[in-house]
This record gives sequence, C-alpha cells and structure tokens, in this order.
Amino acid sequence: MSDHGSKQPTPAEPQTEARNLDSYRAHYAQRTAGMTASEIRALFSVASRPEVVSLAGGMPNIAALPLESLAAEVSRLITVDGQTALQYGSAQGIPELREQICEVMALEGISAHPDDVMVTSGSQMALDMVTRIFCDPGDVILAEGPSYVGALGSFNAYQAEVVHVPMDEEGLQPQALREAIAAVTAQGKRIKLLYTIPNFHNPGGITLAIPRRSEILEICREHGILVVEDNPYGLLGFDGTQYPALRSLDADNVVYLGSFSKTFAPGLRVGWVLAPHAVREKLVLTAESATLCPPTLNQMVVSRYLSTHDWRGQIKIYREQYRERRDAMLSSLEQHMPEGCSWTRPDGGFFVWLTVPEGIDTKAMLPRAVTRRVAYVSGTGFYTNGHGSKQMRLSFCYPTPERIREGVRRLANTMTEEMELIKTFGTAGQRTTSGPQAPSPDTA
Ligand SMILES: Cc1ncc(COP(=O)(O)O)c(C=O)c1O
Repeated sequence: MSDHGSKQPTPAEPQTEARNLDSYRAHYAQRTAGMTASEIRALFSVASRPEVVSLAGGMPNIAALPLESLAAEVSRLITVDGQTALQYGSAQGIPELREQICEVMALEGISAHPDDVMVTSGSQMALDMVTRIFCDPGDVILAEGPSYVGALGSFNAYQAEVVHVPMDEEGLQPQALREAIAAVTAQGKRIKLLYTIPNFHNPGGITLAIPRRSEILEICREHGILVVEDNPYGLLGFDGTQYPALRSLDADNVVYLGSFSKTFAPGLRVGWVLAPHAVREKLVLTAESATLCPPTLNQMVVSRYLSTHDWRGQIKIYREQYRERRDAMLSSLEQHMPEGCSWTRPDGGFFVWLTVPEGIDTKAMLPRAVTRRVAYVSGTGFYTNGHGSKQMRLSFCYPTPERIREGVRRLANTMTEEMELIKTFGTAGQRTTSGPQAPSPDTA
C-alpha cells in the first residue's frame, strides 16, 4: 500500500524576496505611497523581550478582568443565542448594545439616541471611515501637536494634510487654533476636520480645560470645521473630575468616537461613533463596504458584560491601578531624571509626555535605550511635520509599578550617558528620518 494519502503538504515559505515585492510595487495605488511601516517596528520585537521594560506600548492592563465569569457568559451566549451570535448582523450594530452605549456616554453628559450610534471595530475603524467620508487628497485636518499615531496613519492613508496646533498645560490653544485656520485658509487650502483628544491625551497626557471647550467649539462652528472628538480615555480620570464631552456641548458639529478598548477589553475590537444623522447614514454605507457588519459575537459579549457585570466597578478598579502606576512613574521621574527634563502630569489615561535636555535626540537614542533594556516611543511618530525629536511618550498602563520604577531608572541612566557623549563628541549618534508611522499595536 502506498503512503500517498498520509503525506503532509510542505508549508509555503513567506515571499520576502525583493524581486517579488518589486513586481507588486508598480501596481499600488498612489495613496499607498505614504503608508510606511514604522521604522521602530523591528526594534519593538527586541523591546518585547521580557528583560526589556517597555514604557512604549499602550496596552491596557486587563489582568483584573473577571475572566471566569466572562467565560461562563460567552459559553452561555453561544449555547443559548448561538444562532444569532454567530450570524451576520446589521451594519450599524446590534440595537441593545447601541442603547447601552448611550448609557455609557451619559456618564460624560452626552444625551444621544441609539439610532445615531454606530458600532465599529474599535475607534480606529471609526477614524478610518470618518477620514474616508470627509477627506479628499490635499484636504487639511487640524490636530493637536503631538497627536495619536493611529489617527495620523489614517489621515496619511487618505492623503489628507495634517496641520498641528500646539497645546499647553490646558490642552489645545484656542488662539493657536485661530492662527492655524487663518494660515491654512490664506494658502487656499480646505480645512475639513479638527481632530482632537480632549481627555487624557495620547500621547500628551494633557486634558482640555473646561472653559476652552466651548471656545474651541465656537471657533470651529464659525469657520465651518467639523470636530472629531476621540475619547477612549474619558472615563479613566484619577481624581474624580468628570469633564463634559465636547459632544455634550454641541450636538450638531461634533462626531464623537468612543471605545471599549480601555474600559473593558481591546481584543474584542468594539468601539462606536455617535454622529449627526446625515453623517451616520454615510458611515453605515462606508462600514457596509468595508466589513458588512461589526462582529455580532463580540458585540453581544460586550452587551452581556454591560448588563450582567459591575462595569462601573471594573472601571474604578482600572482607575485605581492606573493611578498607582502613574504615581510610580511620576515619583521615579522626579527621583532619577537629569536636569533639563520636563514632563506632563496626567490626571488620567495612560501616558506621560517627556521633553529631554538640549542635545538629545529621542529617535537616535532609542536603540541605545533598548540595549539598556528600556523602551519608549520617540516623539517624532506623533507629528507629521518632523517635530518631536526632543520628546518621548512614556506609558504607565501595562508594566507593574516596580517595573516602571526600574524602567525610569534605566532611561535616566541612558540619558545621562547620552549627555556625556554629547559633551565629549558634540553629538551622540546619527539621527534617522522622522515622520508619521503606520499605526501598530506596539505604538498605539
Ligand atoms: C486616542 C486614541 N484613539 C483611538 C485609539 C484606537 O482604539 P481602539 O482600540 O478603540 O481602536 C487609541 C488606541 O490606543 C487611542 O489612543
């Protein structure tokens, strides 16, 4: 008898030769030209080794989730409601979840109807769709400087031009916004959107002061600029202050993006958009063309979680954990950082934005930091205009307080060494090119 039937097929090799890649390149659409993989992605494979303390990634710390009761819920969901949970659903998302999302948003002062909510695969998908709907190549999007790397990646993918508007310790500066609008308009360019992260900014760690909220909304209204409010961290404030969502102050000119990634679990990829009716209709058509519908099972898991678990209590647990980690980071920065450094003091969220002493280039220093077993994200990834080489983002969400303290100590040593090199040789090393990077879970 031959053994023909039992032969296993040989696994194919990945096609990585330059010859193969080149033959595709000629066929790519022009819009892909700006889509480049992060130069630091390779570095992150090293940074994810256990001996390296990563202060880089924005992974939520989901260790405190009640996994056993969630597992029982998911099992019940499939056994009892499997015919629905494993079926296609509506492009807008399941009605029950959309109602619950309205309850979640009410915590930030938003009054909304479930018909105006659309469920997405994370707010990253919402960012992609909003840009697709509103931006032609060359249109301008105003965004804080620095801004969320994943948003910049989407804007880039649709060939929109980003103009950064500076922040201070109270967030986006209204006067700078006025000046940016005037400058862009004088160049004959069209401004389509203001993209803003008002609460516990990624990467800035800054929150927009309450009096500035209405002022910024007013400026945008006056100039016919739609506001995209990205608010994944709004419920993760540490001192109990609840900031009013921009959408709660202006229901007609704000597209609001929310997410369960930071308050529940990012792996489910469930977020949402709340948009004025006409925009919501376009969003649904766009979502249908991209994915037909958001994953029904995941939506039902989130919905069950919200109806059967103490999700507010879980958010409290998250807040307490992140506050402890923020405190560990701030106190060790205070203790170890060399003179000339400054940093933001976030009241919530995941991130501290650190400015380094004169002479240091955070992008050039990164490989040396990784060699010293600590990783961060260079500020250059959060700008589209080459800025950010004097800054870095440090995240305190994932490592334990002990690891954070050790990471900051290693980072401070790396910086001190870097400054010695600069003093001796005038420069510490070659700077690589800067600019926006494609979003990746490593740098989100
Ligand atoms: C400001 C901001 N917007 C959007 C996202 C994307 O979140 P989601 O997991 O909902 O796609 C992130 C993730 O880090 C973020 O920080």
